[in-house]
Formats: sequence, structure tokens, C-alpha cells
Amino acid sequence: MTSNKHGDSSLSKFYRLLVDQVRHEFTASHQYVAVATWFDDQDLPQLAKFFYAQSLEERDHAMMIVRFLLDKEIDFTLPGIDEIETNFSAPRDLAALALRNEREVTDQFQHLAKVARDEENYTGEQFLQWFIQEQVEEVSTMSTLLNVIDRSNGNLFDVETFVARDLTNEDNGSRPAPDTAGPATS
Ligand SMILES: [Fe+2]
Ligand SMILES: [Fe+2]
Repeated sequence: MTSNKHGDSSLSKFYRLLVDQVRHEFTASHQYVAVATWFDDQDLPQLAKFFYAQSLEERDHAMMIVRFLLDKEIDFTLPGIDEIETNFSAPRDLAALALRNEREVTDQFQHLAKVARDEENYTGEQFLQWFIQEQVEEVSTMSTLLNVIDRSNGNLFDVETFVARDLTNEDNGSRPAPDTAGPATS
């Protein structure tokens, strides 16, 4: 992996996008730490806890892709992460950001699946299925959270109760999650 001497330019489009996806997942992980610490600082422990856990899930997603790249003996360079948002003024901003982010990730996986099919990379296409299914859940969760915040009319204690009672980071998918490189954290 680190012995990459010719950069990632020799990779197929599918693998280049998959390496980009490692960056997107690590960026999402870091973004959710920023969201969690903002809630933590506002004394909203349930929202903080939810996003700390969400951050670990995103890290696992990155490491599942890393595992796959290693198993396929793809010569890649581990990417860094993109800039994150840290300037928030209201809880709604953070939930809206999370929803936007999850929708973007859904589009990224769907594009990846299309490219895998175009390149007749059926192993790659199959690997993506778990992520595509997972994204349905993630978008739905963030959309629910945003609706609940909007309906709370500023009563964040109600939002905290809802998060504690109804929002879980549990993976309810019917497919087993792909293995991570190194131990899974969530
Ligand atoms: Fe993810
Ligand atoms: Fe996500």
C-alpha cells in the first residue's frame, strides 16, 4: 500500500473512486466528532453520544473499504481528509449538515455501483451492496432527527428524550457488515 511509487493514476476509475470514498468516510467521521463535541459543549449529552457513536461507524466504513482494497491487493495511498464544518449556531444546522452529508454519500455509492458495473467489476459491485443498504438507514435517521428538532420548537430536552429513546446506531441491515482492516469500533 505505502510502496505506491506511481500514484493512484494506474488504478481503474472504480478503484480511484473507492480510494476517494475512504477519504469521504474518514472526513464524515471527523465531521461527526465536530458535531458531537458541539452538542457536548451545549450540555446535550444524548445528541453528543449519538454523534460520537456515528463518528466511529464512519471510521469503520473507511476501514471496511481499506480491508477490501488490501484483500484485492490494490496499490493505493491512504488519503487524508477534507475540510470540515465547525461553525454552527443552532442544533438544526448540525442535523441538516448530517442529512446533506448522508445524501451525498448515498449518491457517491450509487455512482460507484454504476462504475463497477460499467467496468464489469462484479466483486466490487457486490461489495458495495451493504453500503447502499446502510445509506438508506442513515439518510432516514438523519431526516427523522431533523424533523424532530424542527417540531420541538426549541425544546431540546424533548429532542434529548427522543434521541435516548428512539435513535440507535444499531445496524439493522439483513446483510452482515464487511470486515474492517484492524478491529471494528462500533
Ligand atoms: Fe459511512
Ligand atoms: Fe454515514
